[in-house]
This record gives sequence, C-alpha cells and structure tokens, in this order.
Amino acid sequence: MISTPHIKPVNNVNIAETVLLPGDPLRAKFMAETYLEDVQQFNMIRNMFGYTGFYKCKEVSVMGTGMGMPSIGIYSYELIHTFGCKRLIRVGSCGAMQDNINLYDVIFAQGASTDSNYVNQYQLPAHFTPIASYHLLEKAVQQARDNYTTFHVGNVLSSDIFYNADETASKHWMHMGILGVEMESAALYMNASYAGVEALGMFTVSDHLIRNEVTTPEERERAFTDMIEIALSLA
Ligand code: HPA
Repeated sequence: MISTPHIKPVNNVNIAETVLLPGDPLRAKFMAETYLEDVQQFNMIRNMFGYTGFYKCKEVSVMGTGMGMPSIGIYSYELIHTFGCKRLIRVGSCGAMQDNINLYDVIFAQGASTDSNYVNQYQLPAHFTPIASYHLLEKAVQQARDNYTTFHVGNVLSSDIFYNADETASKHWMHMGILGVEMESAALYMNASYAGVEALGMFTVSDHLIRNEVTTPEERERAFTDMIEIALSLA
C-alpha cells in the first residue's frame, strides 16, 4: 500500500477522488460517523484522522488538515500527488469582514487572497490569483439555493497570522471587499492549480471582525450541518 510521511492508509482503505477537508481532525471523525455509510478510517498519523465512506452511494473521504497554509499544503499535496484525489473541498469556519454578512452565513471562496509567500515556490514572473474550481463553485451555489442557505460568494483572506501585531491589517482587506478571513484556502487553491485538479473552500461564519457578536455551539452546529450537506453533494 502506498503511503507518505503524513498519510499511511491502514487496512487497504481507499482514499476517494472527492475529499472533504475540515481543519479539525475530530470534526472529520464526526462528519464521517454522522454522514457517511460503511465508513473506514484510513489515517491516524499525528492524529490527523481520515475516513472513507459513502454518501448517497458515492465514495467520499474526509480528513483533517490542521490549521494554516503549511499544514493544509502538506496534506492536500499528498492527497493529490500520491493518492490521486481530484476534488478537494475545504469545509471550515471564518471571521466575517463585511457588514452585510452575519454569523452562521455560508461563504464560498471564489478567490483566496493571502499574506503568505506560499506562491513564491512557483517562481512566477508576477502575481497569481488563487481561485476556486468554477465547476465546484457553481454546483455548490446551486445546492445552497436549493437548500435556502444564506450564502455569499467572493474573495476571502487566507492569513498566516491569527494574532496580528498590526491591528489595522484587516481594515485594508475589508476595504478591498474581502468577505472573511481564514487560514488555509490559498494554499489549497495553489496546490490544486499546479496539479490541475479541482478545489473549493467554504466556511460558516463563526465570528465577526466588525461587530462583536458571540455564537452558541448549537447554532454553530446547525450552520455547519447545512454547509456539510452542500459539500457532500459535490461528490
Ligand atoms: N481569523 C482567522 N481564521 C479564522 C477566524 C479569524 O477570525 N475565524 C475563523 N477562522
């Protein structure tokens, strides 16, 4: 059985071409146990749990990525290049950066701007715009409409910095219409672009950078469930 430094499939469990990627490995476990049938675990290295099962008869995997671009960069690279994954769908949370966006809304990252230098490895002569797979984005939007989910589509910020010493940093991104901040999608989009596979990031809004609002675990769970159903429909 093929393996990588970070993913060692156990018991010959296959990794599906469509893989959902939450940051938290325990979220991956919950998703697999709640939504998939005939689930088998394929990874436990570093407790970065990964599972494969079936959703409406289609094979789907779900695996944690950890936080930040270096971590999702590693896992998505190995999933694409060693395990042949073709559709990588990040399911996470983000902080809202626009007034018209509310807690628990869903954001689809059409683009992922970043303050990271991850792109430097590609030695491009100028700037690169990490974008989602239009095909996945269109399907996700359609599903969100069918489900009456409140959603937004646009540019997000994939930041390397959660605790930024420059307290004005987010203001500049807000001015450019960035919808929300998270920490992974730009690396996922770049890995997917470089490899010629599809990727999409979607997030529930867990906190608000303009209004000081609090979320409850119950409401977070419901919003997350709406989003997972959209993500699973992409398999
Ligand atoms: N910043 C970065 N990542 C996040 C946030 C945030 O405010 N909320 C959820 N993920």
